[in-house]
Amino acid sequence: MKGIILAGGSGSRLSPSTLSVNKHLLAVFDKPMIYYPLSVLMLGGIKDILIICAPDDVSRFKGLLGNGESLGISITYEVQENPNGIPEALIIGEEFIGRDDVTLILGDNIFYGQGFTTLLRKAIQDHKHATVFGYRVKDPERFGVVEFDENKKVVSLEEKPNDPKSDFAVTGLYIYDHRAVDIAKRLSPSGRGELEITDLNKQYLAMDELDVQLLGRGFAWMDAGTHESLFEASEFVKNIQQRQGFKLACIEEIAYYLGNIDKQELREIGKFMSKTDYGQYLIDIANRKHIEQYWDEMDSHPMLEVSKYE
Ligand code: G1P
Repeated sequence: MKGIILAGGSGSRLSPSTLSVNKHLLAVFDKPMIYYPLSVLMLGGIKDILIICAPDDVSRFKGLLGNGESLGISITYEVQENPNGIPEALIIGEEFIGRDDVTLILGDNIFYGQGFTTLLRKAIQDHKHATVFGYRVKDPERFGVVEFDENKKVVSLEEKPNDPKSDFAVTGLYIYDHRAVDIAKRLSPSGRGELEITDLNKQYLAMDELDVQLLGRGFAWMDAGTHESLFEASEFVKNIQQRQGFKLACIEEIAYYLGNIDKQELREIGKFMSKTDYGQYLIDIANRKHIEQYWDEMDSHPMLEVSKYE
């Protein structure tokens, strides 16, 4: 399974903050936005990751994440010249994907909830052709919308419908087989001049090969593409972190618990930013005697989910 993070786009809805900074490098509370989708792919067990961004941004992402070695994963980069839509990520990633399956995630999507790691790992393992995730929202007209019949079978998909047929949005997390690349190549731009991921999903639906997994009310799914939603996401992250003392989307912590990096490496990264709460958090984890000691504190820890599942 390969992983792609689409971090392209002009971020125009976040201007002027994004006039000279890529949206996905802005902070969601205490860490760059891209940490959140990256942590999802890492928790899903994906180690080979492609980041797609605008030409000017490659060096900035490389400055932040490098080749992924410090996280025990591989990160490579490709350029999206213009924001031509989500399916273009699959076309750009054609060589990277090869004959593998691919999990594609949008760089501004944040997923959180007990059981998410288990759900994602199971979805990846059971995945056949195309899997997307549905989430109930108050404003479905802003998203791709999935309609079900009384047997929970998917009936239709629509992109930003004026009159949504359900309250279920399709989130920005997609799992495809390699045929998605050819399907993407055959798409035509929509009215807004972009290739639409909903059109690609519709093709899988027409072949009866689309699986929709629902994320229930215990999950949080947010995008951080506007000033309002960015602020709300930051507040959400701050509140959970301060209440529980766990960090969301702490990629170094995840790398450590996955066994990608060792205690000493984790401590060194922590020391590098020791003046921050983030750095101290890493040092504290590295100073714990046993990983199990940490797991025992709370049986919903994502890493415990991984260990249970494997
Ligand atoms: C895109 C997709 C939409 C999906 C959403 C998730 O919307 O087109 O189907 O529901 O991402 O974040 P956009 O970000 O282009 O408005």
